[in-house]
Amino acid sequence: MTTSPSDLAAPPGAARVHNFGAGPAALPLPVLEEVRRDLLDFRGTGMSILESSHRGAAYGEVHRDTKEALRELLDGAPDHEILFMGGGARTQFGLVPWNLLPAGGSADYLVTGRWAEMAVAEAAKRGTGRVSWSSEDTGHDRVPGAGDYPVDPEAAYLHYTSNNTIYGTQYAAPPDSGPVPLVCDMSSDVLSRPLDISRFGLIYAGAQKNLGPAGVTVVVVRRDLLERSPADLPDTLSYRKMAEKDSLLNTPPVFAIYVVGRVARHLLARGGVVGAARRNEEKAALLYRVIDESGGFYRGHARPESRSRMNVTFRLPSEELERRFLEEAGRAGMAGLKGHRSVGGIRASIYNAIELASVQALAELMEDFRRRAAQS
Ligand SMILES: Cc1ncc(COP(=O)(O)O)c(C=O)c1O
Repeated sequence: MTTSPSDLAAPPGAARVHNFGAGPAALPLPVLEEVRRDLLDFRGTGMSILESSHRGAAYGEVHRDTKEALRELLDGAPDHEILFMGGGARTQFGLVPWNLLPAGGSADYLVTGRWAEMAVAEAAKRGTGRVSWSSEDTGHDRVPGAGDYPVDPEAAYLHYTSNNTIYGTQYAAPPDSGPVPLVCDMSSDVLSRPLDISRFGLIYAGAQKNLGPAGVTVVVVRRDLLERSPADLPDTLSYRKMAEKDSLLNTPPVFAIYVVGRVARHLLARGGVVGAARRNEEKAALLYRVIDESGGFYRGHARPESRSRMNVTFRLPSEELERRFLEEAGRAGMAGLKGHRSVGGIRASIYNAIELASVQALAELMEDFRRRAAQS
């Protein structure tokens, strides 16, 4: 893989770059500073949390507090269990059908991108993954509107991807699945806005975009669905078994869970998901305004009504200009802006931890670059 100039480190002297990477992504600076402080001596234990037993009191408190903070951000989630699992979100593509889909049964999928395609392919290994709607014909530039997709009333669940990291599309509201349990891959927009968890059978999210470092996947599952996990699944892959043991069936990814807890507490101190939504809205609006007022110089990939507040994807008039833009961005201390290879162009990932000042710097560069390109 080639490294683009904007993926390179900051120019000498700049302590931290504006990190627009899609994931693993930027973490809040105060959290990183707290983690550094804790690293050699975690709260007077004389050892790092990395070195603490997962059965000990110090980690026990971290585990409990991380769950509690997440619960608070999810309005208590009284009917749901919060699980910490390994294997990334992609493992959940398989675990959802293996736990929730009876052998030979059928589940519905809304296919709005590469990740959803992979998810439906995993369902086909267990039963039928029925594509009830797809945006493939238009390059995954949109999400369905209410009523665009039929839901089979017999389906074991309806699965969708709330934010399509690669394409920069996002659902404004969860789809309506009626009585069929709603399952969501929320890897790239979890906790970026308020969520009515009571509408969901299950959500899952790899941590490395909005929640913390890679290594843990947060699964929030409605209790009544736990009985669907078949007895012949390996214990560590069974939602039921993991819930019975409070995700401590074996050694959990302790460090990742600890950081997720600190990120969640940091978010709560900044107005929770309501505060996050307000800030994310403002950041996204700034970039989309620059795109819309560029007279066609910047072309957004997503249709306006499907635009993501997390990943802003756009093209420039030529690949040469895109290359120069990335080079300039790199020199200005901006990293991670190269678009995914299947869309090309530029992708600015502006998750919770990206400050408005970083987005303002990018917006200014975009405007300045366009003005100069028009003159040359
Ligand atoms: C929406 C979405 N789902 C799933 C994944 C895969 O996540 P993981 O690498 O944790 O398996 C990604 C990764 O970028 C993603 O953006």
